[in-house]
Amino acid sequence: MERETAKRKLAELREQINEHNYAYHVLDSPRISDEEFDGLMRELIRLETLYPELVTADSPSRKIGGKPVNSFRQVVHSAPMLSLDNVFTEGELKDFFRRVKKAAGEGPLSWVGEPKIDGLAVSLIYENGVFTRGATRGDGYTGEDITHNLLTIKSLPLRLKKDVSLEVRGEVFISKKDFQELNRKRESRGLPLFANPRNAAAGSIRQLDPRIAAERPLNILVYSLVFLSGEQPPGDHWETLQFLKSLGFKVGSHTVLLSGFEEAMDYYREMELKRNDLFYEIDGIVLKINDFKLQERLGTTSRAPRWAIAFKFSAEEKITKVERIEVNVGRTGVITPVAVLEPVHLAGTLVKRASLHNEDFIREKGVMVGDKVVVHKAGDVIPEIVRVVEEERAATVKPFIMPKTCPSCRAEVHRLPGEAAVRCLNPTCPAQVIERIIHFASRGGMDISGLGESLSRQLYEAGLVKDVGDLYGLTEEELAALERMGKKSAQNLLRSLEKSKKNPLHKLLYGLGIRLVGEKAARLLAAHFKSLYRLQNATLEELTALEEIGPGIAASVTEFFAQKTAAKVIEKLESAGVNFFEETGLDSGENLLQGKIFVLTGTLNRYSRHEAKALIESKGGKVAGSISKKTDFLLLGENPGSKLQKAIDLKIAVISEAEFEEMIRQN
Ligand code: IVH
Repeated sequence: MERETAKRKLAELREQINEHNYAYHVLDSPRISDEEFDGLMRELIRLETLYPELVTADSPSRKIGGKPVNSFRQVVHSAPMLSLDNVFTEGELKDFFRRVKKAAGEGPLSWVGEPKIDGLAVSLIYENGVFTRGATRGDGYTGEDITHNLLTIKSLPLRLKKDVSLEVRGEVFISKKDFQELNRKRESRGLPLFANPRNAAAGSIRQLDPRIAAERPLNILVYSLVFLSGEQPPGDHWETLQFLKSLGFKVGSHTVLLSGFEEAMDYYREMELKRNDLFYEIDGIVLKINDFKLQERLGTTSRAPRWAIAFKFSAEEKITKVERIEVNVGRTGVITPVAVLEPVHLAGTLVKRASLHNEDFIREKGVMVGDKVVVHKAGDVIPEIVRVVEEERAATVKPFIMPKTCPSCRAEVHRLPGEAAVRCLNPTCPAQVIERIIHFASRGGMDISGLGESLSRQLYEAGLVKDVGDLYGLTEEELAALERMGKKSAQNLLRSLEKSKKNPLHKLLYGLGIRLVGEKAARLLAAHFKSLYRLQNATLEELTALEEIGPGIAASVTEFFAQKTAAKVIEKLESAGVNFFEETGLDSGENLLQGKIFVLTGTLNRYSRHEAKALIESKGGKVAGSISKKTDFLLLGENPGSKLQKAIDLKIAVISEAEFEEMIRQN
């Protein structure tokens, strides 16, 4: 085909495909079959491959996962991305309306009511009608450039229906149906499940690799226009929404014009009823003053506009029955009573259990086995018992008695002074060991995909893993012999284990499950001590001297490292080649010392021998015991031995500790 013909054909294809994308993903009314659509796409890609110089910024081929980025670029927002103030009750809403009325003065007010979508705010920039950049909200002033991931969103128009330049803001989310499908797929692949659509969307939009985002069914709705050039901007919010729609954006359904408080309340009640029928999750409604001039006059606080409010739904409640109370043994030996409930649908999921936390909680709530109870989801996610329906208490209910022995290992349990929890203090208690494996492999920890709850249990029960150090000694044969485990999954698991060895120290620290050391403390400790060896040797004073590390965490850290069992685990991890340093991965030159042979002599000041060796190895180098022609560097400490002379004779580079540090920093 001639270049000119190709150019014309490409323009035609682009327009057709963008139109069909819009019809399918924005209007929800496809005009051609999936096969026909795929045909158009294939033809587009074929021509673009033949004539790469003809690829344009609005080409739908941009939507097929681009290349990963190394890090997120910071983006300064043209105007701060504000949040919204919340109200939870009719009374609070009334107060808000009163305040606005007072500030606005005489005359009727016009409001726009919108569903409050439970997703993530993003900003989108279009230049001359073409999508050029998208960013997260970040701290409101600076966000992160996530253009590469936004490009994978099918409902995001790449080219607008007019060649205007503008910035819009909206919400990225995952629909309820897509979310279920996504989790179903993850479950079948042994991946951890997302707690809710919002978390799934959040985890997807902040991926460096757009191929991951492309696999997640992200969706987008827009709700505000920040600037517009090339034409007269609409005069109020309602017109703006219509205008955005006419440009090809998807805007929220169920958006209405309201005249005042009473209508706002009606809208709220209506949306609360419709909530479950919407295809996306909403957690309330948003009410906005329609008139832009009035919006401007009311102004904003540093956090939120004074002309808008989010009226949140109260958590959905249901009544169900406590069938029995079980006890769970956690990673740190804490024994937690859990109510096993008659299954009940609540805010989108089937709830079967709710934690009762501890004996005190049970006493306070007065929960007995057989009771009818009111349940809700705390933070819309975690099922919780609100209260007992005492009016309906049967004569057959039974009080719960905390067991005196651990349900897993039968060791006596203890309630430590000042704690609400009862603990099993046996460190080799099977339930605790299994929980520790699960925690080690969890996302915040070593992030070993494929190693979830049931496999952790299987590995322990088969006697293959007695502590997390054993994980790295697993073989394909051992794994493949396990029930429900094929050769393929065994290989996948070994691959994830291998990959996890390169994790930075904070992930390992968190994964080790040191009491009170959560992700934040793990990051702080890793950033300060930089190596596990140093942390291992840190004193209580050194630890408490750190800002944000309290005496509790400090004591827990030193206690942890003083245990023989911990030392054993660490030894196993070390010999498996697990990274013990914070600076690692691509950024610190994983292969910086690839193949280089080091010999150490004298006393090092900055590192112990052990540390220096591990550091060299973590960057791909080797440490030999004596100088030979193959040696690349002699690392010189104080009071060197005869190795120095030998190195000089063989003309081998001799470097100081400072030079060594310089060397490993070069990247
Ligand atoms: S307007 C200055 N409208 O809720 C106005 N926000 O809690 C800022 N949200 O950051 C936003 N649905 O991510 C607006 N219809 C809607 C919304 C909405 C969801 C989110 C948005 C915002 C957060 C504030």
